[in-house]
Amino acid sequence: MSTARHAAISGVGSSLPARVVPNTFFESRVDTTDEWIRERTGIRSRHFASEGETTSSLGADAAARALESAGLDAEAIDLVIVCTITSDRPMPSTAAYVQTRLGMHCPAFDMNAASAGFVYGLSVAAAQVQAGAADRVLLIGAETISRFLNLTDRSTCVLFGDGAGAVVLEPSEDPGVISSRLELDGTAAEILTIPAGGSEQPASEESVREHRHAIRMNDGPAVFKKAVTGMAEASAGLLDKAGLTGDDVQIVIPHQANARIMNAIADRLSIPREKIFVDIEDVGNTSAASIPIAMDHAWRAGAVSPGDIVLTTAFGGGLAWGANLLRWTAPAPDGAAHDGAAGG
Ligand code: ACO
Repeated sequence: MSTARHAAISGVGSSLPARVVPNTFFESRVDTTDEWIRERTGIRSRHFASEGETTSSLGADAAARALESAGLDAEAIDLVIVCTITSDRPMPSTAAYVQTRLGMHCPAFDMNAASAGFVYGLSVAAAQVQAGAADRVLLIGAETISRFLNLTDRSTCVLFGDGAGAVVLEPSEDPGVISSRLELDGTAAEILTIPAGGSEQPASEESVREHRHAIRMNDGPAVFKKAVTGMAEASAGLLDKAGLTGDDVQIVIPHQANARIMNAIADRLSIPREKIFVDIEDVGNTSAASIPIAMDHAWRAGAVSPGDIVLTTAFGGGLAWGANLLRWTAPAPDGAAHDGAAGG
């Protein structure tokens, strides 16, 4: 009998700002059309935070929903990890504000792996539980990318949205998080950055005037190709290692960067496109929040059930990418009370 301690997802939640921004919003600002955006990306609308909403407020909302679905009070959590590239402030961590908003006292920190943040975060959070360093981890992906957009750059401004998603991880007898694969190629970092506002290019009048505090993508098509190759290879490697094939996967929950990217990954993995969960139409690319938001939407829609093999995969700035293989463990949204996870 195995005495290994595993980690499993026991709750999930998400939060989107109330303000919906349709593609037509951009037609008066840049040379674009609703039709181009829909056809080239799959996005119809996204949510933008309103005044007073922040990465930590969205993160705390999503976390509260994840805690509720896990049947846990905030005090039961002993570690909070917030994956984000759009922190409330450079210092302190966004996790500090989330912790305070939820009235918790546990350690909390931020992680930055750009749009691969949640895939990296899930690997780290699961390892904390598996090692016995933490019993209940709250893992959040939260972004307010609208605050880091150049609304005069049509190649980026139409792609992104705001929101947050969260999961609760608890100890389990059998693996919920089966394994993860994390990759990074820093030699290609320049292709996708927020150039200014850090120690290399501190804020100045000039940097603000030149929109250098906003997301800059130097070569969209190159990012597209690397995203497809990276996510497909990471996913295939993970499946191979687990002795599984695409046939064993019930649902793929990819980073929602572009509907065409998601279709290309499905084709490369020989997984039917119907198994790919897509909510990009109404959400856009929410970077580190993308997978946990989609996971929550899939769960609440009944598209994922206990026992299902779930593949998540993401790609973003760094360039960082990776994948997680999971056996779904959170009970169906209606009814099922928290049972202390699987043997935790
Ligand atoms: N509206 C109209 N035309 C546009 C727009 C727009 N919003 N954006 C670009 N175009 C034009 C281009 O200028 C180009 O015109 P040209 O032929 O006259 O030069 C034409 O459309 C085709 O441009 P491409 O860049 O080749 O278009 P493509 O089909 O590749 O789509 C896109 C561009 C959507 C950006 C795509 O490349 C993509 O999705 N890339 C990956 C993005 C991504 O995954 N980012 C992840 C980052 S997440 C993170 O880490 C924060």
